[in-house]
Amino acid sequence: MKRSKLLLANLEAFYKFIGTSNIGNRRHQCNIIQARLFSRSLAAQEKLSLDRDTVYNRYEEVKQFARSDPESFWAQMAREKLKWRKDFTRVNECNLSKGEVSWFSDGQLNVSENCLDRHPREDIALIWEKDEPNQHEQVAYGELLDMTCQIAQTLLSLGVKPKDRVVIYLPTSPIAVATMLACARIGAMHCVVFAGFSASALAQRINDSGAKVVVTADKSPRGGKMIELQKIVTEALNQTATVEKVLLWQRTESKTLSGNLVDLMKESDRMPKYMEPEAFSAEDPLFMLYTSGSTGKPKGLVHTNGGYLTYTSWTHEVIFNCSKGDIYACVADVGWITGHSYLVYGPLANGVTSVLFESTPVYPDPGRYWEMVERLKINQFYAAPTAIRSLLKKGDSYPNKYDLKSLRVLGSVGEPINTEAWHWYNEVIGRSRCKIVDTWWQTETGGILISPQPSTPGSEVIPTMAMRPLPGIEPALIDPVTKEVIPKGRAADGDLCVTKPWPSMARTIWQDHERFKDTYITKEHGFYLTGDEAHQTEEGYFRITGRMDDVINISGHRLGTSEVEDAINLHPQVSESAVVGSPHAIKGEGIHAFVILKDGCEETESQLITEINSFIKKDIASFAQPEAFYFVPVLPKTRSGKIMRRILKKLSVGITDDLGDVSTLAEPSAVENIVKLIEKRK
Ligand code: WT7
Repeated sequence: MKRSKLLLANLEAFYKFIGTSNIGNRRHQCNIIQARLFSRSLAAQEKLSLDRDTVYNRYEEVKQFARSDPESFWAQMAREKLKWRKDFTRVNECNLSKGEVSWFSDGQLNVSENCLDRHPREDIALIWEKDEPNQHEQVAYGELLDMTCQIAQTLLSLGVKPKDRVVIYLPTSPIAVATMLACARIGAMHCVVFAGFSASALAQRINDSGAKVVVTADKSPRGGKMIELQKIVTEALNQTATVEKVLLWQRTESKTLSGNLVDLMKESDRMPKYMEPEAFSAEDPLFMLYTSGSTGKPKGLVHTNGGYLTYTSWTHEVIFNCSKGDIYACVADVGWITGHSYLVYGPLANGVTSVLFESTPVYPDPGRYWEMVERLKINQFYAAPTAIRSLLKKGDSYPNKYDLKSLRVLGSVGEPINTEAWHWYNEVIGRSRCKIVDTWWQTETGGILISPQPSTPGSEVIPTMAMRPLPGIEPALIDPVTKEVIPKGRAADGDLCVTKPWPSMARTIWQDHERFKDTYITKEHGFYLTGDEAHQTEEGYFRITGRMDDVINISGHRLGTSEVEDAINLHPQVSESAVVGSPHAIKGEGIHAFVILKDGCEETESQLITEINSFIKKDIASFAQPEAFYFVPVLPKTRSGKIMRRILKKLSVGITDDLGDVSTLAEPSAVENIVKLIEKRK
């Protein structure tokens, strides 16, 4: 108590320091201080011109406040950021070691009301940058509210009830956003499936979630090509039993529909334009989203209303230094967590204009992003390193053609950003006057946990480092061998954990809480285990170095080795396979597949590769196709039968002499055979 008072006094000093008078009571004052501290525009920061020491201490101050009194910190944040229908009295009721996470549980709110009704009707909510070049459409907050209410009532008319699952298989578009918010308005859970996933992958997600309704489009144009969404859905429905109705958005042409198909536009047009938002508990589910782990089928991570929206809106504001009037573009697909937290929920809760990008970075040419930045006057731009790397290879002439002076913050997400890409982003795109934010987070964390924070005046950025945790986030590294916590202030590598719960943490894996606990909670300490490895510096900065498990990260898309192996094994001539991630210049990682064929297989290698690839495309998606295949007689395994991926990873990059400890190999010839194969290819 004493300590917290002291900190409040420090904040008061800070408040005076930044030159604002009219101080109210301390609690309220602290509230304002935090809001100001995290929301200052870059211009204001520059005027302050603070030395680094003060700045660092300032961040420390807020961090210390959040550490010593997390309940007050998060409660203030939740009240500051959101409109609550019923205020909460309970803040943090988590027991992390038991996998129990609960925030603001007796509070009530409606997420769609927070993202729509609160903002002036005429403000622009979305700019839809369609696949077709040079075409964009603006959607005002009022229009988006109308669309949302109409779709919400359409869903109700189909019998969708609170907590029912609605699968959304749509291109990144205002309809996709309105459908997500429509689910939120009526308390249904949306489950967006990336519209690049195959019919089998879609069917698997429909079956696991038990969805009643699927919302899709006839076709989705992408890079000038048409993806036949409706056909894929029809194929998926042959493998599912729970879906009662399919709401179809006729994106490219209009036909009369029959059977279980309902015309989304026609039905929703008939509905009233307004529907009261119902209040739901902060801990009621908002959505589920599937992601891959190293073993088993993809898992449906469940996120809830209050904590998720508090954290995503706050971090969106402070990390992107984004406020009303800004034009913010996150070029991720709505089907990934980035598309949920930083395309839809964070930006719309903050009332800014969010750009929806339906196309690809190279259509019609590699200047697409930069032409768009100039035309739409984008202030914050958020993309994946893989896109940056692919554009970097095309040279500077494309970005140099365009006026990029509207840009202030450039974000990176999904995988480690390499030094060359970081500098190109900073110098060629940012013209060395933008803030670069390398943001680290996961589907499970709901929002960004570690990132440079340009809103903190003068905050430092070191290329390729995700830098510091947000205040209130308590990361720690665990020694992979001793399992001991590595002390702060010591430069070291380790497994990245978070020791305290935070509001936007996933609550569970859909219908498998045991798996949630087993996967994410460390037995030794009861910490949240991220699955990533990281390096910490003496100053407390973090660099994310890669995964500690068998998850492969291809162009920022997460895939489990077992998913890819299962798809390869579908080929009738394959007896066994093992895949590993191997460094790739553009994609970050590419897949290398080691395959054992059945006896008597007479097909040629190139025939087999084409066929196996089509199995992968059908079972998962085309981005999951391997870069290289090795047809081998045996796989390197331990005597207990575990595939030694460590060895395969080394072999995949052509290392054949320094393979580390191979003493546990059951059959040394397994390695010798692959080595011979690689030598032959060299
Ligand atoms: C995994 C999470 C977070 C939204 C997109 C991916 C890797 C993510 C970074 C970064 C290094 C990163 C991690 C993480 N990752 N951001 N800035 N630097 N690695 O979400 O599909 O849940 O994947 O992506 O390995 O665990 P996701």
